[in-house]
Amino acid sequence: MSDEQALRAALLDVSRRMVELGLNRGTAGNASVRCREGVLLTPSAVPVAEMSPASMVRMTLDGTVQQGGRPSSEWRFHCDIFKARPEIGAVLHMHSPFATTLACLRREVPAVHYMIALAGGDSIRCAPYSVFGEQQLSDDALEALQGRKACLLGNHGMIALGSDLDEALAVAQEVEFLCELYWRTLQAGVPQLLTTQQMHAVKQKFVDYKKRD
Ligand code: 13P
Repeated sequence: MSDEQALRAALLDVSRRMVELGLNRGTAGNASVRCREGVLLTPSAVPVAEMSPASMVRMTLDGTVQQGGRPSSEWRFHCDIFKARPEIGAVLHMHSPFATTLACLRREVPAVHYMIALAGGDSIRCAPYSVFGEQQLSDDALEALQGRKACLLGNHGMIALGSDLDEALAVAQEVEFLCELYWRTLQAGVPQLLTTQQMHAVKQKFVDYKKRD
């Protein structure tokens, strides 16, 4: 199997996982991975159950389709993220229940639990609302993602990033958990937030935690 074929299969696999995990349904959401000098992206308006590795669309980072049909309507933010963030190898977009609930409240997630460090900082920002697929949405998402591996999109959903598809999916699952947790704590009382110093200590600790022998 060529590298590109393996990436096409992996993109299909992560799209299926997002549905299985309840993070997406129907034609909601999309996924991309770096491939050659450009990107492989899920097709637009195709339910995951009808996708195959051959459905994935190969594009240049400036948005020219090289192989395949109509790319996800969100190709702008996928390509813009890869252009702006050389360390990022995979981008996932979801309409997951709890992240989208907070996105509809236009509420950023504060340091309610130390695992928020996994998303790259002390908060998960929420970008303003824009129509899906528009350049404004991409510009706002990029700003909300500064120094982060995830953000919410106002009245829309969530974006999660990783160096590869596995990491992006792990970030997405954790962010969905954090959104659920924040939402639940808000129902029960006033969440006690971690301080900047406490979060700094967590980030230091994570450096060793992630080291593998
Ligand atoms: P696509 O089917 O074009 O990827 O759009 C789905 C979506 O979630 C738009 O934000």
